[in-house]
Amino acid sequence: MSLSLNGNGNSRRPSPLRPASHSSAFESTMAAMDEGVHPVIHTGRVAVITGAASGIGRAAALELAKVGMKIAIADVNEETLNKVGAEVTKVVGEGNVLVVPTDVSKLEDVVRLRDKVYEAWGEVAVLMNNAGIGLPSKSWEGIDAWRKTFDVNVFGCVPWLSAQLFHSRCPMADSVLNVQQTFVPSIIHQENPAVVINTGSKQGITNPPGNPAYNASKAAVKSLTEGLAYELRNSVPPANVTAHLFVPGWTWTGMTGDKGDAEKPAGAWTAQETVLYMLDYVRQGKFYILVPDNETRREIDQLRIMWSAGDLVEGRPALSRWHKDYKALFDDYVREGVAQLE
Ligand SMILES: NC(=O)c1ccc[n+]([C@@H]2O[C@H](COP(=O)([O-])OP(=O)(O)OC[C@H]3O[C@@H](n4cnc5c(N)ncnc54)[C@H](O)[C@@H]3O)[C@@H](O)[C@H]2O)c1
Repeated sequence: MSLSLNGNGNSRRPSPLRPASHSSAFESTMAAMDEGVHPVIHTGRVAVITGAASGIGRAAALELAKVGMKIAIADVNEETLNKVGAEVTKVVGEGNVLVVPTDVSKLEDVVRLRDKVYEAWGEVAVLMNNAGIGLPSKSWEGIDAWRKTFDVNVFGCVPWLSAQLFHSRCPMADSVLNVQQTFVPSIIHQENPAVVINTGSKQGITNPPGNPAYNASKAAVKSLTEGLAYELRNSVPPANVTAHLFVPGWTWTGMTGDKGDAEKPAGAWTAQETVLYMLDYVRQGKFYILVPDNETRREIDQLRIMWSAGDLVEGRPALSRWHKDYKALFDDYVREGVAQLE
């Protein structure tokens, strides 16, 4: 497989890596971005963030508040959501924060969230579909964990589908799809530009062994976000909305073990670092936002993704990266790919 590690075919351009760990140097690099004039991530405009009581969602709420945006935060964990609400209020002031306890798998909760936001502020500039869970799963066991994972991360009851096909009320609705289907019909009628950011995962792209339900749910998020981007791009009349697939690296959050008392593993990024990187790419209008961490640089991710696609194209066994007969080949492939960069 030939290597082309970036869109312009030049694999020797400077590494896009950020400084290795959270540092003031990192922050000042990002702060130098032209925050004030971006038409979407802009003072006075409105951000809605799900899964905002912890980790990446909380960091996004705080960073967007620093820009001066009005922030609506939603999460199923009301207690921690209220705490984050207080933190965000300190940054941007009381009238600019909405705290809306929301279970994104419940359609009525999401509709209530949308109504509250539009009643208060009349628009949404940034819709960040970020709530997610990662229950342990196995391919032929534990259907309940699969259902729960898909209910929160992806699946469930798409409103128009339940109404038209099943004629019944479906209590569980997909988080990303449900939020997307509830908000986007309103957002596309706004005159001012807006962005929809769906949080996926590298696990939904390279499919590493270990948690097949989570991987499958995030693969679905990738697929539906690509579809959303295409439909927005081609909508008639034109919509002033873009979609973005945000793919965090290893980020130290509740999901990855941060209970508040342990130290961040050296390989992980802080949620703030991941969010600042993501916002940089959203500002640039990028659809795929593949975030590195201190353990895996972007070029390694790119090689892994290309190898993964090569399984199908070259007829290798599924997940050959983790197949004993292909391990040496994969290692050579990465070594050669990295050598081409140096
Ligand atoms: N942390 C990582 O390394 C990593 C890597 C790739 C992707 N992600 C994704 O990032 C997103 C944010 O996760 P995080 O790492 O910040 O984890 P986190 O556990 O710290 O935050 C997730 C938040 O989602 C909320 N949530 C769960 N179910 C919900 C529901 N039904 N309704 C509303 N809120 C709900 C939780 O209460 C929690 O506050 C997730 O979609 C996750 O899959 C994380």
